[in-house]
Amino acid sequence: MNIIEALNWRYATKEFDSTKKVSQKDLDTINESLRLTASSFGVQPWKFLVISNQEVKNSLLEHSWGQKQVVDCSHHIVMCTPLDYVDQDVDAFIESTAQARSQSVSDLEGYSKVVKNFLSYKNLEQKQQWMKDQVYIALGNLLTTCALLKIDACPMEGIIKEKYDEVLGLKEKGLTAIVACPIGYRADSDKYATAAKVRFPLEKIIEHI
Ligand SMILES: Cc1cc2nc3c(=O)[nH]c(=O)nc-3n(C[C@H](O)[C@H](O)[C@H](O)COP(=O)(O)O)c2cc1C
Repeated sequence: MNIIEALNWRYATKEFDSTKKVSQKDLDTINESLRLTASSFGVQPWKFLVISNQEVKNSLLEHSWGQKQVVDCSHHIVMCTPLDYVDQDVDAFIESTAQARSQSVSDLEGYSKVVKNFLSYKNLEQKQQWMKDQVYIALGNLLTTCALLKIDACPMEGIIKEKYDEVLGLKEKGLTAIVACPIGYRADSDKYATAAKVRFPLEKIIEHI
């Protein structure tokens, strides 16, 4: 399947077949694709909860506007950001860069200052928005990866984030839920699988200059 075929094949799945589970091998690929997601400055301000525990999935149903995908999916992925992003987080990122590229932390002092300076102009709300923007890049990556693996997914903003935070104990972990994405395999009964794609024509959305 080429990329365009895969993107046409995928759709926001409304009904999952609860008997079908994503294999560990595919899950590993999905996890790695999340890890490889690009982010502003490369700082990766996120954490992804991959929930297969049925009881936990069940407990999230009422906080997902009753959307059954949460219960019937193979894995429910909850995409989170830290509550705040502070200079110590930059330091941890710089250390990881130094390690990955066999550099010393002092070599990266300039880069560290640039990131910290960028953050210093943002209040907490602006930092939270900035982190949220990064998580949505990961969501896009997740959807494309799933499509290429022929795994179904439903990006889901229809969740009560405060309740997700509560049920999953996210605040205690210094995290907050941003968006979710159940993944698995479409049920034969899902009529949305054969619905025509609704997209504006290329000339409306792309301008060549
Ligand atoms: C950020 C985001 C949030 C969404 N939230 C929901 C949701 O809560 N429930 C749902 O059924 N679909 C949700 N969708 C799916 C969209 O309605 C769907 O992607 C769009 O109509 C395009 O259709 P397609 O993905 O099937 O091609 C969401 C999509 C995105 C990108």
